[in-house]
Amino acid sequence: MDYKKLFDLSGKVCIVTGGSGYLGSACVCALKDFGATVINADIKEREGVEDAFIMTDISKTESFQALFSEVENKYGKIDVLVNCAAYFKGHGKESQIEFMTDEVWQTGIDGALNSTFRATREVIPFMKKSGGSIINFCSMYGLVSPDLRIYGEDNPQKNPPNYGAAKAAVAQFTRYSAGALAKYGIRVNSVTPGPFPAPGNDKDVEFNKALASKTMLGRFGKNHEMAGAVLLLASDASTFMTGSNIVVDGGWTAW
Ligand SMILES: NC(=O)c1ccc[n+]([C@@H]2O[C@H](COP(=O)([O-])OP(=O)(O)OC[C@H]3O[C@@H](n4cnc5c(N)ncnc54)[C@H](O)[C@@H]3O)[C@@H](O)[C@H]2O)c1
Repeated sequence: MDYKKLFDLSGKVCIVTGGSGYLGSACVCALKDFGATVINADIKEREGVEDAFIMTDISKTESFQALFSEVENKYGKIDVLVNCAAYFKGHGKESQIEFMTDEVWQTGIDGALNSTFRATREVIPFMKKSGGSIINFCSMYGLVSPDLRIYGEDNPQKNPPNYGAAKAAVAQFTRYSAGALAKYGIRVNSVTPGPFPAPGNDKDVEFNKALASKTMLGRFGKNHEMAGAVLLLASDASTFMTGSNIVVDGGWTAW
């Protein structure tokens, strides 16, 4: 066994949805640095190190179909799908259960959970040909509830209830998919980020101090600190891992 090659992604074709975003862009960089061909599938283009950008809307089944066909036509296969993109709804007053409309609730569920389902269903025909790895993004708020005492009612960073409910469901859908797709050689795992505010989203100093102190390490994560878990699950270093969830939260959910 050549252990140095365990993380080598040469020859692998990886798609990262949300590759233009804060965590997705770090995943793109890490996969690329380890030799993969990387496609950024996002609704918003940005300058990045990816081999290709394919405009993709995760709210639409047809958009996933077009994405996967284009990647297979161009690169011959799909080895890794990172479902990182998500969209949300429910801020301010609307984040309160008693004022949240059905439409707001459902949009949040769609953006985090249904999009992961659509991606998984649509990639199966492509990935089952030679096996692969699906990596879903959950959230610490799918494991524990936000501490509403530190958020306060009107904080724009307050996390709505549909988000955590959907992310908890992504973890369960990951386990179900792992069992269902093992017969095709498709592994399905999830990663659970803790607090990783993008630079610029952490301006409320007092609030962010309170938030960061909820991690055991006493600070927020930086996006490159999320990439290692994705790299592990994308690579042959994790060929016996499926149905698992890797928590990267500075210890937030462990005490
Ligand atoms: N950053 C955190 O603190 C944190 C914590 C827990 C979980 N997460 C999860 O990690 C993932 C990435 O988060 P992030 O912080 O990088 O967010 P981000 O907002 O920086 O990136 C999200 C990306 O998704 C894309 N996107 C939005 N709607 C889309 C659509 N309809 N179709 C295609 N792409 C779309 C955006 O353009 C953006 O590039 C998300 O699933 C998020 O829920 C993040």
